[in-house]
Amino acid sequence: MTEATTTLKQQDKKYSETVIQMMRSQAYRELAAAQMFGHGLQFVPDIKSLKFMAWHIQEETEHYIAVAQLYQQHTGESVEPWVKERLQEKPIPFSSSWLELGVAQWLYDRGGFWQLQEYENCSWEPYRTIIGKIIKEERGHQSLGARIAVQLCQDAENRAEAQKIFAKWLRQGLLSFGRPHNEGNRYAIEVGLKKRDSAEVMKDFIDDIREDVKATGLEWPSREELGVELPEDIDWSL
Ligand SMILES: [Fe+2]
Ligand SMILES: [Fe+2]
Repeated sequence: MTEATTTLKQQDKKYSETVIQMMRSQAYRELAAAQMFGHGLQFVPDIKSLKFMAWHIQEETEHYIAVAQLYQQHTGESVEPWVKERLQEKPIPFSSSWLELGVAQWLYDRGGFWQLQEYENCSWEPYRTIIGKIIKEERGHQSLGARIAVQLCQDAENRAEAQKIFAKWLRQGLLSFGRPHNEGNRYAIEVGLKKRDSAEVMKDFIDDIREDVKATGLEWPSREELGVELPEDIDWSL
């Protein structure tokens, strides 16, 4: 196992490249979340929800800045050009209604939360210093987001539309984890950068949202509809 030292340059090439990739991906996800929720502010129906959403946007923005600062400090470069290019190449879909914003808030954000938990005991010490705080804040806005989304899905007059939105954002949530059982995963686990393979995290994520999905009265989308590489043994019961 690679020694946990604080200077990225002292690490071997593969290790530091993996850490750089982790920070870039997280910076992208945090800023994408801030932009998507920011865009969605136009659909917020009342002051209570406005407060919640504005607070959420602020938190995602701070997470982005925390990762960007860590990146600058340890690579001597700005992550901004990379993130900007990535957002242009792979823009996060924007929501087009309050229902969709609620569902996106629930599933995209929950995916990111589960992904981050895998870095909790990261062998690169500087990452651990920011990840704990981010996870704590993510946990703080999770349950409220789910409550709003479940209520919106239950109330949705157009069930077919709600089901379509659910499939779209479940896919986005699952994409947070990367492909299961690939070489990058194996290496990151081997050197202690992350805890488990994406396949295991996907299963936890599905288990975690199961009760809320049940409460919405929606169905799991088919594998074909999701179009994400998934482990065979996911429990799709409801
Ligand atoms: Fe975040
Ligand atoms: Fe979040």
